[in-house]
Amino acid sequence: MVYILLSALSLILATFYFKKLLKNNFKKSIHLPPVVKAWPLVGALYMLTKDPVNLIRKNYQKYGSVFTIKVLGQSVTLLIGPEVSRHFYTAADSELSQEEVFKFSVPMFGPGIAYGVSTEKRRQQFQFLTKGLRPQMLRYYIGQTLAEAQDYFSKWPDSGTIDLRHELEHLITLTTTRCLLGRDVRGNLNEEVSSLIRDLAGGVLPISFLFPYLPIPAHNRRDRARGQLYRIFSNIINSRKNSHQSEEDLLQTLLESTYKDGESNSNEQVIGILLAILFAGQYNAANAAIRTAVFLLQNKIYFSKALEEQKAVVHRYGSKIDFDILGEMDVLYRCIKEAIRLGSPTIITPRYCQKEFMVTTREGKEYTIPKGHIVATSPVMASRLDYVHKDPERYDPNRYLSTVEKEMSSHLFSDISFGGGRHPCPGETFTYNKLKTIWSYLIRNYELELDSSFPKGEWNGSDTILVHYKRRQLSF
Ligand code: HEM
Repeated sequence: MVYILLSALSLILATFYFKKLLKNNFKKSIHLPPVVKAWPLVGALYMLTKDPVNLIRKNYQKYGSVFTIKVLGQSVTLLIGPEVSRHFYTAADSELSQEEVFKFSVPMFGPGIAYGVSTEKRRQQFQFLTKGLRPQMLRYYIGQTLAEAQDYFSKWPDSGTIDLRHELEHLITLTTTRCLLGRDVRGNLNEEVSSLIRDLAGGVLPISFLFPYLPIPAHNRRDRARGQLYRIFSNIINSRKNSHQSEEDLLQTLLESTYKDGESNSNEQVIGILLAILFAGQYNAANAAIRTAVFLLQNKIYFSKALEEQKAVVHRYGSKIDFDILGEMDVLYRCIKEAIRLGSPTIITPRYCQKEFMVTTREGKEYTIPKGHIVATSPVMASRLDYVHKDPERYDPNRYLSTVEKEMSSHLFSDISFGGGRHPCPGETFTYNKLKTIWSYLIRNYELELDSSFPKGEWNGSDTILVHYKRRQLSF
């Protein structure tokens, strides 16, 4: 009996000792990512606000593909490059979640949508959007975009100098509104609504990510703007409902869609989703259109190639532009793709780490990312890695024709300009079609010359782009 008791006791002690040994060894083998040196508390916040791209680039060069920045005591771990991004894109939402990092959007769009609702409900809401972007709708949107572009450019005199940044920004707002929000919202898109939308966007400051409800003037303006937009949009929705007429737009899709539990969208939810879509699409698409302008006008050889392609397409189909014809504009597609690669508007895509995980770098270093960190990939940095793209800083739309480069950039999560994995951007095809429509119209109908005063170096998003233009007839 004593022998049995002693044996049991020694077994328990051995198990306990073994567990402790395992735990200690495990603890020892944990390698946290290197932490960027900055002034305590506010140091990195200042750099992150002032020049985030440079902050990421400098620390990537110094520390490699995984490093942690401390922002107001919160650890933000960057994962740069395909090797360390796999888990980020494939993990379940319960392991890497979005609500915590996108909570700043709740007071912008309302509590009943996107990051104010459960993951499942949000998934269904994004499915409504995907339904509103199905191929049949995309075909219709191309016609709407073309009509809007024709109307817009017809107001330009035959020649002159314009700020192409302002013009494209404005045109993208009009086309996005007309396609997605519908003709009735587009008809109401006056200066008042535009200024309310600006106030809503102005409510996103770095501090809003941590304290979205802080009573500061920008947040107060944001809340007032949402209230007024709600009143204006609600009237439009009610008159659409009362007219019993069906339109081909996202608004109609949202009004007709139901959740799995049979519930329909309330007016507040419809408005919230429309505003969120306007934000998700508008800024990024305008940025891509403007970047394309800058690169095409600076690299005349590609402008000429795009012009030759348009001549060939016009030769085949006349002035018609539709989904299939856009599909034949491969040069233009590559010119836009390259502009998005070099000027990706998305600096970081963040998640909140709910469950520890490990990453292994290209060099074979292993790091543990603990629960509680914010983890983020960086499309703007990932698209400029020299082991993925040859001479990455060069604007070279022909790089997508090279087999080596094609092979490298087709690696999983090398090209993340439009996200990927569990949360790919549902607006990618819509964006390419819109940009190709606008750019083919511009190239066909105008000679464009960049004003010599345009800065030669990296383009800062708010610079004006003075362009001389002259209306032309394509000659073959
Ligand atoms: C040049 C244009 C665009 C770029 C570069 C872009 C980029 C991105 C990126 C990088 C993501 C992933 C974000 C993440 O992983 O957290 C994303 C997601 C998303 N985008 Fe876009 N986007 C563009 C246009 C659009 C348009 C036009 C729409 C709407 C019509 C749209 C709607 C969305 C939505 C709803 C998501 C969230 C998807 C999800 O979380 O499941 N985007 N976009």
